[in-house]
Amino acid sequence: MIIGYYQYAPVFLEPKENLEFLASELSTISCDILVLPELSISGYNFEHIDQVHQCADACDGRTARFFRDLSKKTGTLYIYGFAEAFGTRLFNSAAAVDKGGLVHLYRKLHLFDREKQWFSPGNLPLEPFSLGDCRIGMLVCFDHFYPEAARTLALKGTQIICHPSNLVIPDTAQMTTRVRSLENRVFWVLANRTGEERDLRFTGRSQTSNPAGALLSSSDEAFQGASLCEIHPGDALDKHITGVNDLFADRAAQYYVTD
Ligand code: ACM
Repeated sequence: MIIGYYQYAPVFLEPKENLEFLASELSTISCDILVLPELSISGYNFEHIDQVHQCADACDGRTARFFRDLSKKTGTLYIYGFAEAFGTRLFNSAAAVDKGGLVHLYRKLHLFDREKQWFSPGNLPLEPFSLGDCRIGMLVCFDHFYPEAARTLALKGTQIICHPSNLVIPDTAQMTTRVRSLENRVFWVLANRTGEERDLRFTGRSQTSNPAGALLSSSDEAFQGASLCEIHPGDALDKHITGVNDLFADRAAQYYVTD
């Protein structure tokens, strides 16, 4: 299976321009899963809620139709972050879309900083979806600070965590997501953006890590483009650390805090 990320700098508040750009950039890239950044069609650093409404889209709206049509040409499953309009509410969401349209939706559970002014916290369970016989889970950016989120997906059988992000704290998710790969024995695609919007500088350095926590691919801060790698998703089903230590079977769940 070929998976990877596409790192770029969307133009703030210009969804149409961003989709046109992605149409030309992505039409020649074919793989099984391509992960794009958080809020990848609108940009991130909103000043007023009207700006979010102006860029927001339903989960099966024109953005999903755009990726569905692209997938008909490339055969790729796209995972992208977008501002989701749902009734009067806004969510910071990630969608998985293939040639048949929307496959799965996730709404960011842990909102970061000023996002709390615009978005409602997610209200959907952490559930993987299937791509063939492989189970895929999605998280969005700041969710990486919560090991419980990745652990929940892993306990539900997730083999690859796809993680659209707009990171602004340097050198953090590059560390946590490798550790989350290792501590859950899963693959992890961290798709960050690059560029600047007003007072925010996005830190790039997207990466893919394997169930041993090793990097399979990584990019620098300013990189724009795709980085792909070949994986065997079945590797994420083996939870052994040693011959007698099975990561999940050995959990002492009765001693853990569950709230
Ligand atoms: C973030 O959650 N966008 C830092």
